[in-house]
Amino acid sequence: MEKGFILWMTGLSGAGKTTLSRELAKHLIESGVACEILDGDEVRENLSKGLGFSREARDINVRRIGYVANLLSRNGVGVIVAAISPYRETRNELKTQTHNFIEVYIKCPIEECISRDVKGLYQKAIDGVIPQFTGISDPYEEPLLPEVVVDTSKETLNVCVSRVLHYLEQEQLMPIFTKRTE
Ligand code: ADX
Repeated sequence: MEKGFILWMTGLSGAGKTTLSRELAKHLIESGVACEILDGDEVRENLSKGLGFSREARDINVRRIGYVANLLSRNGVGVIVAAISPYRETRNELKTQTHNFIEVYIKCPIEECISRDVKGLYQKAIDGVIPQFTGISDPYEEPLLPEVVVDTSKETLNVCVSRVLHYLEQEQLMPIFTKRTE
């Protein structure tokens, strides 16, 4: 059976977690790795419907995602999680409780996320319409020792994807994919 893993993408809203996850999933599938994406926005429509954004609610959400990710990874699936997961302690807790947990920090300065404002939420948060918004009126605790860091404000999507795939190859969690170009 394949060795499962959890690629846990943490970072601000709009940093590029979903985009990177989808691209990574394409590469993994091409390489024959069974994989699933657990995306914060989707989880909040299903598994965590109605849950808010207090610290407690976010922790419940993140632990639920961790629980499902663990069920999958221990059965050989490569799981890609894309969730803000702002609290260091909660991420560290999952790191110790799950199977092959790889913390990937999707770094992007808040100013850049605000200027991208893909979903129009930053403007609402700045105007006070949305309370407790990560990076504006709620904390984001950067990982101190992530396994991989990508900076989406400085690096192309291809470079970010390659950095993560290299890590998986190094750790022998996926086959070496020779055809890939950077
Ligand atoms: S987490 O903090 O619990 O990990 P998660 O990644 O699931 O967050 O969901 C974040 C998404 O919810 C954001 O991308 C955004 O679309 C939406 N959202 C709505 N309100 C907030 C808020 N107050 N803070 C952050 N994201 C919010």
